[in-house]
Amino acid sequence: MSDWYKTMAFYQIWIRSFADGNGDGIGDLQGVYEKLPYIKELGVDGIWFSPIYPSPNADFGYDISDYKNIHPDYGTLEEFQKVLEKAHELGLKVIMDLVVNHTSDEHPWFLESRKGKDNPYSDYYIWRDEPNNWDSLFEGKAWEYDPVRGQYYLHLFAKKQPDLNMDNPAVRKEVEEIMRFWLDLGVDGFREDVINFISKKEGLPNGVPFLPAVNGMIHYKDGPHIYEYNSQFRKVCMEYDAFQVGEGPMTTLPSALKYLTGKNKCLDMMFSFDHMMADCFYTEYMHRPFSLVKFKKAISKWQYGLQGKAWNALYLENHDHPRIISRYGSEIFWKQSGTMLAACYLFLQGTPFIYQGQEIGMTNIRLGRIEHYEDISSKTNYHTYHLKESTAKRLHRIHLSSRDSARTPMQWDDSPHAGFTVPEAKPWFYVNRNYKKINVKAQEQDQDSILNFYKTCLRMRKTSKTLLFGSYREYFPKNREQFIYERQLEDKHYLIICSFAGRATLLKYPPVFEGRKATLVLSNYKHREQVQLLQGESFLKPYECRVYRLRF
Ligand code: GLC
Ligand code: CA
Repeated sequence: MSDWYKTMAFYQIWIRSFADGNGDGIGDLQGVYEKLPYIKELGVDGIWFSPIYPSPNADFGYDISDYKNIHPDYGTLEEFQKVLEKAHELGLKVIMDLVVNHTSDEHPWFLESRKGKDNPYSDYYIWRDEPNNWDSLFEGKAWEYDPVRGQYYLHLFAKKQPDLNMDNPAVRKEVEEIMRFWLDLGVDGFREDVINFISKKEGLPNGVPFLPAVNGMIHYKDGPHIYEYNSQFRKVCMEYDAFQVGEGPMTTLPSALKYLTGKNKCLDMMFSFDHMMADCFYTEYMHRPFSLVKFKKAISKWQYGLQGKAWNALYLENHDHPRIISRYGSEIFWKQSGTMLAACYLFLQGTPFIYQGQEIGMTNIRLGRIEHYEDISSKTNYHTYHLKESTAKRLHRIHLSSRDSARTPMQWDDSPHAGFTVPEAKPWFYVNRNYKKINVKAQEQDQDSILNFYKTCLRMRKTSKTLLFGSYREYFPKNREQFIYERQLEDKHYLIICSFAGRATLLKYPPVFEGRKATLVLSNYKHREQVQLLQGESFLKPYECRVYRLRF
């Protein structure tokens, strides 16, 4: 396909918490429709919709019971078409979440499949008389006994998410049809959920016994037919010039390169997870404070590794991770770290994704009881790990790690419920109490807001070939407080300097820049001189970032 996606930036919508248009406390398509101008104004070029299909919401949309319809909470297909048309009119592409590793256990295919071995849908799922030792990622063992069928079915995620049997050609045909359905409606591509998990090793052998939760992964990640199946789906997308970004949990660089290049090329980009593991990711097992060196190592690995070969999908947040300011930045230096984090990833090589609320610096929510959380993985983790610790300590782990922090209602203004819904309604989930300070309206009015900083960064990217296509080079990889990198195209250079420290730190310029004159084109602090000599000692303020432009 053509590579129109390379100059784009995407905005991710997790609809349930985005904007409520009809006043029932749940975000919906009407709400999205009304906010399209806001999204356009931000300066992105496309929208990724997390699942908006009918779903019992065991995993909030990632358990689909009908692939070709809209969840009644969110609207109708007609309303979706209206959103799509309007988005296109505004020049925004729209990509859908394609979740085909599993369905809901309430999907008609599963309801049929469990009826028995002679059912036409019998082999749509993975049934066994005896389970192997795999754990699921969300809810205990990966096998659940179904009394109707008298067999166990495989679920890599929650019990209500049975895995499809992708080895069955009929299932792959169904996937093709789902894709065609949405492409025919006019969507521009897909974000493909856990796409590296869809082919399982023959015979489903036992996994590594001592690894909790991920013990079976060696047998279902990048499985034997993974490129073949994905190439089949790729063909459909090629017919439409549609775009595909795959989610690749725990994917490695060599394996990602196989999806992205060469004869097996079956995806345009892949979301990798390495840079999400620079802190207490999976806090449930182990508390690790954020390590900038680890973060930089992960970023550089992918920047260098894909350079000239493939294209990065850049992100710091999505619906599966806590808020980045609370994680890698600082709530105390909220605005400084929120803006610095924006600069630190928006100028890398790749296509950036911005998750709803990230652009205004939304932060983690801390609920008082585990019962107040909605996310299935938070609940399971709380009740599975560290049971000997105090309730407070265990809850603290959830505060650090829960996916629910990304799923609180979007903070539009300082009116009741942050303007997410009408005052009379009860939002489906807790609004973060900081909404009076952190909201869209306040930031639209403030020149120096995080929101306006995002807009500036996106505009700069879009209008600079160097920032879009230039090569990447990192400096001082061992520095534990600063992330410094360069983007270069011919004689044009950008130097991006980011401090991750909550205090002033000494800045050393990379030797090749030393003594050169540079234009400071962006900073999250005020500087008197725009043209500066990069020489001698300089200090970076807490979470300061600077972007210099120069020629040599
Ligand atoms: C992906 C989704 C996540 C979901 C899981 C199972 O990781 O991003 O939200 O829970 O797949 O579908
Ligand atoms: Ca609604």
